Order: sequence, then C-alpha cells, then structure tokens
Amino acid sequence: MTDQDTERAPAAGGSPQSREPVEAGQGDAEADAGIEVASATEASFDPFQKNISVDNYVPRSMSFDEFRKLSRNAKKKVMKSEIWEMKKPALDKLRKEKAKAYRARRRERIMRGELDNRQKRPATQRPSNLTVIFDMGFDNKMLDHEVTSMAKQVQLSYAANRVAQYYTSLQVTHFDGRLKELLETRYCGFKSWDSKYIQFHAEDYLDLFPHEKLVYLTADSPNKLETLDPEKYYIVGGIVDKNRYPNLTLHKASEQGIAHGRLPIGDFIHMKSRKVLTVNQVYDIILAYLDCHDWKRAFVSIIPDRKLRERDAIGDSSDEDVGKDSDDNGDPKQQQ
Ligand SMILES: C[S@@+](CC[C@H](N)C(=O)[O-])C[C@H]1O[C@@H](n2cnc3c(N)ncnc32)[C@H](O)[C@@H]1O
Repeated sequence: MTDQDTERAPAAGGSPQSREPVEAGQGDAEADAGIEVASATEASFDPFQKNISVDNYVPRSMSFDEFRKLSRNAKKKVMKSEIWEMKKPALDKLRKEKAKAYRARRRERIMRGELDNRQKRPATQRPSNLTVIFDMGFDNKMLDHEVTSMAKQVQLSYAANRVAQYYTSLQVTHFDGRLKELLETRYCGFKSWDSKYIQFHAEDYLDLFPHEKLVYLTADSPNKLETLDPEKYYIVGGIVDKNRYPNLTLHKASEQGIAHGRLPIGDFIHMKSRKVLTVNQVYDIILAYLDCHDWKRAFVSIIPDRKLRERDAIGDSSDEDVGKDSDDNGDPKQQQ
C-alpha cells in the first residue's frame, strides 16, 4: 500500500481485529444522495467510500488468512465483488426511489396537461361504425372516490379508443354532476379531448338515440350477446358500485322497455367470481372484439389473469374483484 493509499483510505475495513468506522468518500454520488448503507453492510464499513485499498481490506466471504495468500489481482477481484454485493441493496433502493419520483413527476405533468401521455395511433386505424354509450345517470349512487374511479375509467376508455385499430363512436350521456365537475377541474387535458373519439351530452340517451336500437349491456341479463351489431347502440352503465346494486342496470333497461344483453364470458373462460366487469374493461373488450371478432381472444386479452380460474376455462366473479387492475381510488386498470 502506498502512502497515498493510506491517506485516502485510512480504514477500509481496518485489520481483522479492529474495523474502524469510515466516512463516505467526498463527492460520492450515492453517498451524497444520503443512502442508508449501514443496514446493507457491517456498521463499521462503508462500501461507498472511495479508493478502498486492497491492502487493508477485510474480506467477508473468506478468512483473512485465505485472502492474504491470494495474488493482488485476485484480492482486488474478491474485494470488488464483495463491495458490489454490499452496495447493491442501497443502489437498488435508490433506483426504485428515483423511478417512483420520476413517475410521480410525470403523472403530475400529464394531469397539468404539459405532457402528452398518448400512445401512437395505428396508421391503419378505421372507424368501426359501432356506437357505445356510457350512461352516467348514476351520480347519486356513487361515493366520491367511486366518482374519481369513474373519471379515470372514462379517461382510459377515451385513450383506448384513440389507439384502437377500429374505434367506436363513444357517447357519454347524462354528463353532469360530480363526474363532469371532476373531469373539468382535475383533468386539464379534458377540454382538448378529440370529439372524434368521445362526445359528452347533458341529455339522457333516451333523448338522443332511437329506443328500439338501444341495447343495455348488463351482467345480469339472461340474454347472451352473440356478436356486436353496428346497427345497435350499446349502453354501458357508468357506475362503480362494488356490487352494492345488483340488477341495477337490468331493472333500468326493463323499466325503460329497452333491450339488454350480457357479454358471453361464461362460454369462453372460467372466472373466479361473478362476471361483472368495470366500464373500461367492458369497453376494452368491445374494442378488442371489433379487432379480432373472437370473443375468447377479446376476454383473455382484457380480463386480468387473477380473475381467471384457468386461462381457457369458465366461472363466476364479483364486482369487488374484477378490475383490481385499477383500484377503487381510481386506478381503473385495476378497479371496481
Ligand atoms: C361495474 S358494472 C355495474 C354493475 C351494476 N351493479 C349494474 O347493475 O350494472 C359497470 C357496467 O359494465 C357493464 N358490464 C359489466 N359486466 C358486464 C357483463 N358481464 N356483460 C355485460 N355488461 C357488463 C354494465 O353495463 C355495467 O352497468
């Protein structure tokens, strides 16, 4: 060890008998970032210090005697690999924190409308001629955080429609109350959403579309959909209710004298609980079906794995469970 080495790294582990605490090297990025390394290493040794000399390094993976017999290069190799192992947990933690902070900053910028979060639209995108209606006439049945989740589901559906191979006409009706307020105030980009992919109406769907062509989609309907008919207008109930209101939309459709139908999920896949999906999942399935004309593929590609009993078998799921890809607080990739 040179004198210089001794000055720079006076106690890189010390002798086997006495391991003195060492200070993190000046200018070391990770140390400057304030990483807690003590828990990842022996308390007396700081693997982030600079210029650790092999001459007074205390090995961890072999005895000091074994280490002493190694060539200088072999010692360096052992030392480097051990120090790397000691640093790794702290570096991993730092990386995760940085990534988390980056995602939070990005989300903020998207919310403020400063950043475009949109995926690229396929060059070959085409209209599907299908109309889907989101019926938002359930404001008084949702808790505040459920309205927040609903807003995210609308946002996700709009985003999915923009990049779909075959996009639909997407009509949001009865658009008023807390959902409207939320989208207008919290979703800065909302005002510039492209009306080609989504349109909002204060009116009810009964005032806008021919009654005889309306089909209310509801998991509780005895009628199974065979296909999607571009002549029809398919309504999805704009509600997050954690299964508090079973049959809500079935009763609504029946009272209004309009047709209703359920997705043929049970014919193609097993689900762990009831087959009630979230609004954006139903819409994603519709978009997937328009692309492949294959229900099974559409279901398997959208319904989360944890909801499936088997990849290609069948069953029954609950509202609570479906959609935990979004969350109740509003990450609707999980939700409902
Ligand atoms: C969270 S569900 C609402 C459940 C509510 N209790 C109800 O009675 O409709 C949101 C909407 O997605 C649609 N939906 C969910 N699962 C469905 C399924 N398996 N078949 C057809 N539509 C479904 C319905 O339009 C439903 O209103």
